[in-house]
Amino acid sequence: MNHAATSLRTDPEPSGSGALYDALHEVHAWTAREMARYEDELARLPRGGSVADRGARHLLQLGGKRLRPLCVVLAAKLGRGFGDAACDLAVSAEMIHSATLLHDDVIDLAETRRGAPTAREIFGNAASVLAGDGLLVAALQRILRVGEPILLHHALETLKEMVAAEALELEQRGRIQADRETYFRIIEGKTASLFRWALFAGGKIGGLPDTPCRALQAYGQHLGIAFQLVDDLLDVAGETSRTGKDLFGDLREGKMTYPLLLAVEREPALEAVIESSLERRKSPSAGLAARVREALNRTGAIRDTLDLARTHSAEAVSCLEHFSDGPSLRALVTVAQASVDREG
Ligand code: FPP
Ligand code: MG
Repeated sequence: MNHAATSLRTDPEPSGSGALYDALHEVHAWTAREMARYEDELARLPRGGSVADRGARHLLQLGGKRLRPLCVVLAAKLGRGFGDAACDLAVSAEMIHSATLLHDDVIDLAETRRGAPTAREIFGNAASVLAGDGLLVAALQRILRVGEPILLHHALETLKEMVAAEALELEQRGRIQADRETYFRIIEGKTASLFRWALFAGGKIGGLPDTPCRALQAYGQHLGIAFQLVDDLLDVAGETSRTGKDLFGDLREGKMTYPLLLAVEREPALEAVIESSLERRKSPSAGLAARVREALNRTGAIRDTLDLARTHSAEAVSCLEHFSDGPSLRALVTVAQASVDREG
């Protein structure tokens, strides 16, 4: 990965430098008040003391990139600004995201997330599922109270897409001949759909007309794809200390990611090597990991995955061409760049 990369957070790291770092500072300054309000609201949730509430709080308190709420904030600020309803939508976006992660970690039997044990490791699988259920219901109630039926309608469609994508990924597990079409159907459903919703919701609540709201959705689609491609890369070429997840987790979970898909396409003999790992549902040995990484480099799979992520990031930016210049627009451009140029 690019070692000058900046971790994508709304507050840039103190050790950072360069143009992207400066741009992230600008994003932070431009959204600090709204994100602080959002954080205040989120910190109070969920209020109860049940094991489900504790499981949800465990994940929420670990932080994360807060990228989806940031998308709501920026889209709202492209319009008339960020008020109570926009804050509700930003909180809902993070709650939905967290709910899906609490479920996903059960599906993937994940042990670590955000550099800590997963909720399912601490509270058990059942509690993690209930924690996700609770967050999901609370998020939908919050969207309902905003009083814009189209936002609830879109949120339900988004969830339907996420479930379908996750089910498709489950069906494909362990199949290394997965085709590109299936791969993109999965990532558009599981990752890009919620970005699309966050941007649409922010734009709508900011009073933007339909055409700009659709442009924001298209931006969200490309941003989500770029983001997931980089997630795939970080799984094989990142550092655990930066990602907070185990390396080669996708391989252990039997998931065909884009870099693996490219490498197998270009060097079919790799199929057998990767298959042996997919079958065992264990992290690959150091030797196997080194072999796979070497193959990913040799075939140009790492480079071309990053290139494709950059292409989607640029396409995301081009979706914004009809918006007039200003801090929110510039921030969305920075977010698209930083989603690719990141280490965690
Ligand atoms: C992470 O993918 C998972 C998602 C982005 C979506 C998960 C969606 C569901 C479980 C279905 C919908 C859920 C609800 C509550 C309606 P990943 O496993 O590739 O990434 P990771 O490495 O961060 O786990
Ligand atoms: Mg997972």
